[in-house]
Amino acid sequence: MSKTNIDLVLMEPIGTIHPNIYGHFVEHLGGVVYDGIWVGEDSSIPNIHGFRKDLVEKLRAIHPPVIRWPGGCFAETYNWRDGIGPREERPTTVNWWYNNDGLYESNAVGTHEFIEFCRLVGAEPYFALNATTTTVLEGRNWVEYCNMPKGSTTLAKLREKNGSAEPFGVKYWGLGNENWGGGGAMTPEDYCNVYRKYGIICKSVYPDGYYIACGANDAIPDWTLKFFDRYRQMYTEGRIPPMSGYSLHYYVSNLGDLGEETRYTDEQWYETLRRAWGIEPFIVRQIEMLNAAWPGNNLGLIVDEWGLWELYYGKNALPGRHLFAQETTMRDALVAAISLNVFNNHCDRVHMANAAQLVNCIQSLFLSRGEKFVPTGTYHVFDMFKDHQNAQAVRSLVRTDAISYGFGGMDQTVDTISCSASVKDGVLNVSLVNLSIDRDQEVTLDLSGGEYASEGSLTLLAGVDDKDANTFDEPERVIPRTTKLSASGRTLTVTLPKASVGCVSVPVMQ
Ligand code: AHR
Repeated sequence: MSKTNIDLVLMEPIGTIHPNIYGHFVEHLGGVVYDGIWVGEDSSIPNIHGFRKDLVEKLRAIHPPVIRWPGGCFAETYNWRDGIGPREERPTTVNWWYNNDGLYESNAVGTHEFIEFCRLVGAEPYFALNATTTTVLEGRNWVEYCNMPKGSTTLAKLREKNGSAEPFGVKYWGLGNENWGGGGAMTPEDYCNVYRKYGIICKSVYPDGYYIACGANDAIPDWTLKFFDRYRQMYTEGRIPPMSGYSLHYYVSNLGDLGEETRYTDEQWYETLRRAWGIEPFIVRQIEMLNAAWPGNNLGLIVDEWGLWELYYGKNALPGRHLFAQETTMRDALVAAISLNVFNNHCDRVHMANAAQLVNCIQSLFLSRGEKFVPTGTYHVFDMFKDHQNAQAVRSLVRTDAISYGFGGMDQTVDTISCSASVKDGVLNVSLVNLSIDRDQEVTLDLSGGEYASEGSLTLLAGVDDKDANTFDEPERVIPRTTKLSASGRTLTVTLPKASVGCVSVPVMQ
């Protein structure tokens, strides 16, 4: 057993953890929508208005704040008009991902259905608007259709005819997706011009919208520099498109070098987790670029796609699986926990994050196949972290050993313990990840600026083996277990098993 010391500095709040950091992503891709969230009203699978009942109930329980839809890449060929009106009259179209799995898009789930799903699970919708293959007018029309008051315009009346007199109040609008790639392969300058038009016109119909520009991923971090050069130029000329948020995408892509979903070496385990933690320097660098380009800006960073993409090179769906559906082991659970810790620790700038994707895909919280359904380790991590929502994040100073390993002919290191902490209603919540694949870790939590007030709890998510996963046959192989913790004074020590996620929850006096 090795040891880690963490100082929790209660009087140094980082900021409020925006609940939207615990957001999700649903794309019309493989089995995410059809079979994942939607089974149809006539299905023998228990459902609520067509949505898989088990999923709705489980998701609701973890307080999902926001869900991004309908893509991803899919968004950039989506015509929102295909997904409204009587379902039997909706067109069948070629899905963006058709060449990967041969599936057509039935459009059975469209705007009204997705809003219904959000209401069932208690989340806000975040719509990604097509900024590549449609017109600014049609983009604006979707905003109008969703948000204009009852009876006001012809599109509002059409919404009423389709079942919703009251507006949906969709606040979050992403104007494009990955416009450097699948979204039109634009240059940052081209996209900035496109953004300007969509932003100004959408705002003209819905001034209260939270408009989000497409930003960089880790392969093209400098997109941000060029995009904001152009933006600043527009700004000085007085042609100012509204922007509340700027999006980032970050995947840990398994190009085969990280082993297979349930078969990897210790070195591949550490390298996966090191790359997951690499989201932190990526975010920090992006903040620096933003601040340099636009001093004093208060843009929210929106990490609207993140996760461990195991089958990155698996261009086609595997037999018996949905496209990109991956088995998720403790390795995925640790990637989720490390990522959420990073978002909590940067909550002063990260205002939303969306795990890609909710079900039957990359880093999923659920897997389904017809009648079969199972929550994954990633689901349990979201459950264990949910009390951070709306809490005050506090600084944690971690003294832990670095783990050394060799990878690809290089010497690498990664810290043993990842941590984030927050206080809400007098309760301290500390989330810990033990990255060591073979050693338990004794972690001492020292409070600065307060004392432990009473008994608390420790919740642990740990497999017997790091490759343990929840499967349809064994749905509870990896589930959190909670024990009581006695705590008083300023110091508390817990033991984290190897390859585990732990959450400490204790009332504190400040
Ligand atoms: O999440 C899968 C895909 O990854 C999304 O459609 C796209 O935005 C990204 O490249």
